[in-house]
Amino acid sequence: MHVPVLLKQSIKSLKIIKNGIYIDATFGSGGHSRSILKKLNCHGKLYAIDKDPQSIKIAHKIKDKRFTFIQGSFSNIKKFCKKHNIIKKVNGILLDLGISSVQLDDPNRGFSFKKDGPLDMRINQKKGISAAQWLIKSKKKKIENILKKYGEERYYKKIAYNIYKQNNIQPILRTSDLYNLILKSTPYQKKNPARRSFQAIRIYLNKELKELKKVLLETIKVLSPGGILSVISFHSLEDKIIKKFMFKNSRKIPNIPKNIPLTYQELKKMHKKKYKFKIFKKIFPTKKEILHNSRSRSAILRSAKLIHNS
Ligand SMILES: C[S@@+](CC[C@H](N)C(=O)[O-])C[C@H]1O[C@@H](n2cnc3c(N)ncnc32)[C@H](O)[C@@H]1O
Repeated sequence: MHVPVLLKQSIKSLKIIKNGIYIDATFGSGGHSRSILKKLNCHGKLYAIDKDPQSIKIAHKIKDKRFTFIQGSFSNIKKFCKKHNIIKKVNGILLDLGISSVQLDDPNRGFSFKKDGPLDMRINQKKGISAAQWLIKSKKKKIENILKKYGEERYYKKIAYNIYKQNNIQPILRTSDLYNLILKSTPYQKKNPARRSFQAIRIYLNKELKELKKVLLETIKVLSPGGILSVISFHSLEDKIIKKFMFKNSRKIPNIPKNIPLTYQELKKMHKKKYKFKIFKKIFPTKKEILHNSRSRSAILRSAKLIHNS
């Protein structure tokens, strides 16, 4: 069971127009999708995207003419919108990043350090290589970089060294093997250190930050004037990217060094942007939600409205 995070708040942030066109770019178990459908009238439309081929089974359970499911990466959102003829017609896009509890809790997916299973970690198991294969083929330095960059792991050197050493003796193929190795490489900590390394490898393997940067840029091209972008993130690196993107596109004039002799009016004229975002206040889960659903503890919802100037 996946309990949708910030459900009420994210649906409210989309300011749903009853006959509007919406995209749930991270369908998962369809929690947010079902709530969006409830708000639409018979003329409204919802397109849902998910990279995981297994999510099709859940999507097929939604028998609704207003609903279309697309299996693929959200970074291809523009291509999908072109195909469905909805470019610049989309009233709202929702992104609920990461993976769902269904994926995390399935030992065969290899995402969880709490369950023994093959060390896979791919969102789409039909593409790319598994985490086990990646660890076998990677140099120690590369593993170090990933653990440090995406996991903000203090003991990245020791963990990478032990992974590299172990893989030269006998390949690490199971989540439990990697888990035990991480515990062996780090001192006792209140928070389980395996969480950081597992998350780092997952983020890297699925190119999650690259995908995020690309989809954010594409949203500008597909949203209608007044369209809303809402993003729920769970990792500080994701939130940094979203914040930077929204703020960069909300500025009237660019950051130009102070010593350039131009007046404010001249700058404004030079830089007449076709669009800009109006940013809304970021939202966090309530204490009650965190108590009820611990997965929500690191969630942040950011939303912004796209305003076209022309
Ligand atoms: C946190 S879950 C979404 C849960 C969903 N909102 C719900 O209420 O059930 C994130 C989903 O996004 C999908 N996903 C992750 N990266 C993706 C990408 N680049 N393109 C499309 N889907 C992606 C995952 O497969 C997962 O199902």
